[in-house]
Amino acid sequence: MLLQVEELTKDYTTRFGKQRVQALRGIDLAVAQGEFVAIMGESGSGKTTLLTLLAALERPTNGRILLGGEDMAAIPNRALSAFRRDRLGFIFQECHLLDTLTLRENILFPLVLAGRTGAEMHARLMPLAERLGIAPLLDKYPYEVSGGEQQRAAAARALIIKPMLLLADEPTGALDSGSATQLLQLLDGYHDEGQTIVMVTHSLDAASHASRVLFIRDGRIAAEIVRGGHTRAAFYPLLADRLTQLQQGGELLA
Ligand SMILES: Nc1ncnc2c1ncn2[C@@H]1O[C@H](COP(=O)(O)OP(=O)(O)OP(=O)(O)O)[C@@H](O)[C@H]1O
Ligand SMILES: [Mg+2]
Repeated sequence: MLLQVEELTKDYTTRFGKQRVQALRGIDLAVAQGEFVAIMGESGSGKTTLLTLLAALERPTNGRILLGGEDMAAIPNRALSAFRRDRLGFIFQECHLLDTLTLRENILFPLVLAGRTGAEMHARLMPLAERLGIAPLLDKYPYEVSGGEQQRAAAARALIIKPMLLLADEPTGALDSGSATQLLQLLDGYHDEGQTIVMVTHSLDAASHASRVLFIRDGRIAAEIVRGGHTRAAFYPLLADRLTQLQQGGELLA
């Protein structure tokens, strides 16, 4: 398994109230190399918390995460940012491009940090930018391009390191439907080439691109559906039915 998550829990303590929130209450999850997993669930169910832990941005309260067989808990804090930079790509709803850098500089940023040569950076950038349709925009600043174009630049920044795992939190959440479709088709293309993806989404349409969909409720995995041989069009109503069932609090047929 590329990613293995065992009995993962995360408690947050609010700063003043001393109130404890059990954001994750025991998640077990295994993701194989090349899978495209979508995670759905109501607001507050723990989706972003799970991604935050997978991204090694925070430490779990209990449980284990192994990425490529490596136990994240064994990585000292000082080595975490390099671990993230070398293995993980991120796409968020708000794309977090740096406004003082051009798209080119934003996309190359992870490679600059990793100390790659100019020639290698250029060799990686151009095919990626062509494929994502942003090659003519590389010298513009984020505020000079559309939201969809910004998000494709963010995708380029995530993919340029050829991450072991691509993590996306609501990547289409702020996009119009045309831009969303374009981004999802890009993810499909990378998935077809073997990229492993874990994507949180509220959108059934986005989730229907995945090879497996997990539903989180109250910090636990409540159900999962595997797409199997279904086309996207056939998978969509299955997801919609399961989501309705979960929202009605019905018994789960996981
Ligand atoms: N830094 C934090 N401090 C305290 N509580 C937090 C923190 N982050 C999340 N929580 C709480 O943990 C729970 C899960 O939050 P999380 O952000 O994972 O939900 P989510 O499923 O991503 O929701 P949404 O769909 O709205 O993005 C919520 O009750 C939330 O209030
Ligand atoms: Mg969230």
